[in-house]
Amino acid sequence: MKTEVAVVDETEIDMEIIKRAGDILKEGGLVAFPTETVYGLGGDALNRESSKKIYAAKGRPSDNPLIVHIADMDMLGPIVEMIPEMAEKLAARYWPGPLTMILKKSEKVPLETTGGLDTVAVRMPKHNTALALIRAAGGYIAAPSANTSGKPSPTQARFVKEDMDGRIEMILDGGAVGIGLESTIVDLTEGKPMILRPGYITKEMLEETLKIPVALDRTILQADTGKAPKAPGMKYRHYAPKGTLTIVAGEEQKVIQAINERAEQMRKKGEKVGVIGTAETAALYRADSVKSAGNRQKEETVAKELYRILREFDDEDVTVIYSEAFENTGFGQAIMNRLLKAAGHRVEYAGETFIQRNEDEMQHDIRIKMP
Ligand code: TXA
Ligand code: MG
Repeated sequence: MKTEVAVVDETEIDMEIIKRAGDILKEGGLVAFPTETVYGLGGDALNRESSKKIYAAKGRPSDNPLIVHIADMDMLGPIVEMIPEMAEKLAARYWPGPLTMILKKSEKVPLETTGGLDTVAVRMPKHNTALALIRAAGGYIAAPSANTSGKPSPTQARFVKEDMDGRIEMILDGGAVGIGLESTIVDLTEGKPMILRPGYITKEMLEETLKIPVALDRTILQADTGKAPKAPGMKYRHYAPKGTLTIVAGEEQKVIQAINERAEQMRKKGEKVGVIGTAETAALYRADSVKSAGNRQKEETVAKELYRILREFDDEDVTVIYSEAFENTGFGQAIMNRLLKAAGHRVEYAGETFIQRNEDEMQHDIRIKMP
């Protein structure tokens, strides 16, 4: 299959391109498109054959449900059993935006789209190209992140092309995304709202709108607890770079020293070493490849660069990676969640080594915080 790449501009929608892409989706084909979080791999959410094609293109297990993207609030009713008051409040406040809600699904949504579950994940992206495409496709686009299963989500169209060239009909290239990490997922099917995946919309933001406590799936920041995470996708070792990644936490000067020592040891052993630092520290590292994840004071920049950096280390065949830790609160929780997963929860605390293994070690989450 030849994959067409069309450059789009969200400030000036080219309806000819959008219509062509919408027609591909209506006919059961696949189109990758930009959203404010990461690029999505879209198919018609109400067409079971399209959902099967998405799993095939990604090489993704078909028990891992897809997010249904809508463009208008009127489109929510038909795909859910009912709209709880909490969903109405959150939609009014955060849609369009980087928030996915899990609701009971209606008959209209095929089980192929929801990975066999009787619930459906719904989100209204804050991106004009995505919204125009959803409308052109008939209102419902199922879209996981547009990466091959096991790779970091694509934050630029060139990464989508790397993974999907020849596997899908079209890629809409809208440039680099704004946020860089996937949407927050909140489950509203069980009375008490629970975050299944942290993202730009934080627990505090949800609580402020709902005026009730919001729980956090305990599997989010921990290593394998033996418990299945509620979002099936979170159980897979996602976001894993080819190189072995270790997070080094602690006081800044000690972290720099520890990483430089380890880097030197590893290079002597013949490893190719990469380091993820920040604008403040990058110049102080000695390794084969040092990358700055942006300004430590601005979590947004770190989120935006993280997946690009992990992909670049893969391209450079880096075999060992060390990363600084980031603040584990607010949006930083989403950054650390992705980084911990990429690291298989390998964390060293400036000198002493430990690997998070079980619930008893939950306190280590606190120690990951930079002082
Ligand atoms: O920002 C995003 O959410 C991006 C863009 C493209 O919208 N999409 C995305 O999709 O990250 P994906 O498929 O890579 O991640 C969806 C996650 C998976 O972990 C999946 O298991 C979970 O959502 N999920 C989907 N439906 C669910 C459901 N009914 N119940 C629980 N978890 C669900
Ligand atoms: Mg994904």
